[in-house]
Amino acid sequence: MQEPNNKTVLIFDSGVGGLSVYKEIHALLPQLNYIYIFDNQAYPYGELEQNTLIKRVDACVQSCLNNYSVDIVVIACNTASTIVLPTLRAKLNIPVVGVVPAIKPASSLANKAVGLIATPATVTRQYTQDLIRDFSNNKNVEMLGSTRLVDMAEEKLRGIPVNLDELRNLLAPLIGKIDVAVLGCTHFPLIKQEIALALGGDVTLVDSGKAIARRVKELLKLEAGRSRGERYTILSSALPWQESALNEHLESLGFNPIQTLEIPLF
Ligand code: DGL
Repeated sequence: MQEPNNKTVLIFDSGVGGLSVYKEIHALLPQLNYIYIFDNQAYPYGELEQNTLIKRVDACVQSCLNNYSVDIVVIACNTASTIVLPTLRAKLNIPVVGVVPAIKPASSLANKAVGLIATPATVTRQYTQDLIRDFSNNKNVEMLGSTRLVDMAEEKLRGIPVNLDELRNLLAPLIGKIDVAVLGCTHFPLIKQEIALALGGDVTLVDSGKAIARRVKELLKLEAGRSRGERYTILSSALPWQESALNEHLESLGFNPIQTLEIPLF
């Protein structure tokens, strides 16, 4: 049964990564309506030039807002959130929640050192440097930026398993050096078990998903819900590769098949 006046959340990412944030929001607030949009036409964001990224996020979010009534926007992408939030917040008259690497909670858990695993762009952002300066609690933060890790999460959701040897090789610079790892890209909670296996059992993995869900609940002034919302729409900016395998996975999360939304060029 639908609760009266169900609110609608718009969740945005470059790909399937934001689904890890969707899962946390949905677990806390199943009564919401969900619209998920991913900008696969411009994927991977971790390799985009900053001005292009800002324009793409703006165009995707605006296109959704022109077509749907939305109460809150979640930029479920660290790479985008670390640069686009001020511009978006200045333009929109609804709340905008972003996702940034969980350096602060990770540093308070660490005894040895923190690993920040993110996209090549996120590890170089001024925003990330500032987070480390202000919240790393004097713990050493080892950074690793990789687009291949992002691709592995995209593949997994299309039924292609993660190759653990390849993953171990990618994460090798961190192995043995850290006791806490920040999953600083929303794609990575989707391959969390595999990352945990590769890093070894004594490394704690931290991400921002649950904190984002609590923030959405607070901003919408909602109680944790029980009933389900009625809209589970998923939009992409281009035809996704392995569309049917991806749709199969999305169906298990409650979504209708992907629709393509044309994003006006700029
Ligand atoms: N999921 C995104 C993030 O949290 C980025 C993935 C990409 O490079 O497109 O940073």
